[in-house]
Amino acid sequence: MERIAIGSSGVRTSRIGLGTWAIGGWMWGGTDEGESIATIRAAVERGVTLIDTAPVYGFGRSEEIVGRALSGGLRDKVQIATKVGLAWQDGKVFRDSRPERIRKEVEDSLRRLRTDVIDLYQVHWPDPRVPITRTAAVLDELREAGKIRAIGVSNYAAADMAAWRLFSPLDALQSPYNLFEREIEAGPLPYAERAQLTLLGYGALCRGLLSGRMSADTVFAGDDLRRHDPKFQGERFRQYLAAVEALKQLARERYGKSVLALAVRWVLDRGRSIALWGARRPGQLAPLAEIDGWRIDDQAAREIDAILARCITDPVSPQFMAPPARNLTQLEGAAA
Ligand SMILES: NC(=O)c1ccc[n+]([C@@H]2O[C@H](COP(=O)([O-])OP(=O)(O)OC[C@H]3O[C@@H](n4cnc5c(N)ncnc54)[C@H](OP(=O)(O)O)[C@@H]3O)[C@@H](O)[C@H]2O)c1
Repeated sequence: MERIAIGSSGVRTSRIGLGTWAIGGWMWGGTDEGESIATIRAAVERGVTLIDTAPVYGFGRSEEIVGRALSGGLRDKVQIATKVGLAWQDGKVFRDSRPERIRKEVEDSLRRLRTDVIDLYQVHWPDPRVPITRTAAVLDELREAGKIRAIGVSNYAAADMAAWRLFSPLDALQSPYNLFEREIEAGPLPYAERAQLTLLGYGALCRGLLSGRMSADTVFAGDDLRRHDPKFQGERFRQYLAAVEALKQLARERYGKSVLALAVRWVLDRGRSIALWGARRPGQLAPLAEIDGWRIDDQAAREIDAILARCITDPVSPQFMAPPARNLTQLEGAAA
């Protein structure tokens, strides 16, 4: 398993991270705790030492399951990345990076994760109601206090990161990044490269689209976000599936690999990057064996771009996932 440093924090980790959003159940049609724990332990056995979670995933459930899976000897073998700055009320999620909220959230995460330090702490989404410099100062305070080791932001624009770095160290950026979602190439990614941040590309499989297992007949149950994700609807879904078929052929003919391996390798070949791969069953990690020891060459990269341009004539961004700022009621609730 390839390894990488997270910024200048001194934390080193695997270049593939296990994403545990689906393990929380919320927005993924529920969770099976036994399978989830087995998946986390299988990932660690296979050399994946980075586990990415967040308080909002299942409203605490994902962090609790991660904590349970790592208890009994695995904690020291992994790096835990979690997040801060999203609150929830009556099932509704909104941004909240007020300093007092962050100081409380870190304690809640440490308790749920059954640890005394978080290896990478990331602000989940920028909060337009709190100056970035204040949020930066609080995370630096937590680092100084030894509660966190590396500092990251997620879903931030280049200008937000520049403002942050005037006040506090920054080690990592977590953003949507996969073959179908490349919007960060227009700003956040070049900034992260210049600032020598480590990129955690989330949705490496574009929420399963790039697994190669989906067809136009695939149905999603319960509160699964893919029932509303614009990429999974009607004509657009057909366009993305056509691209997957063409990429499947390229991966097989050129490299003897699956499209899933091509998708993860593509994120890893983009520089100082980590691919966050969401899995919730141990068997989903089988393709880990296909990722190391090869690279996508320039000619294949150009062919991939041509496939995307030819098949996807109506692309859509992952912006639908962005949570709102606090509204008046939530502001009053927070002040009370
Ligand atoms: N910072 C943020 O705002 C943010 C946002 C999104 C995600 N993330 C992070 O990034 C991680 C990864 O993103 P993601 O979970 O959204 O999506 P993803 O990695 O693109 O896709 C995950 C889904 O792909 C399917 N899958 C995985 N391996 C498979 C295999 N071998 N064969 C077939 N299907 C497979 C599974 O769906 P099924 O189980 O339904 O088959 C799985 O839940 C998250 O878990 C989270 O840690 C962060």
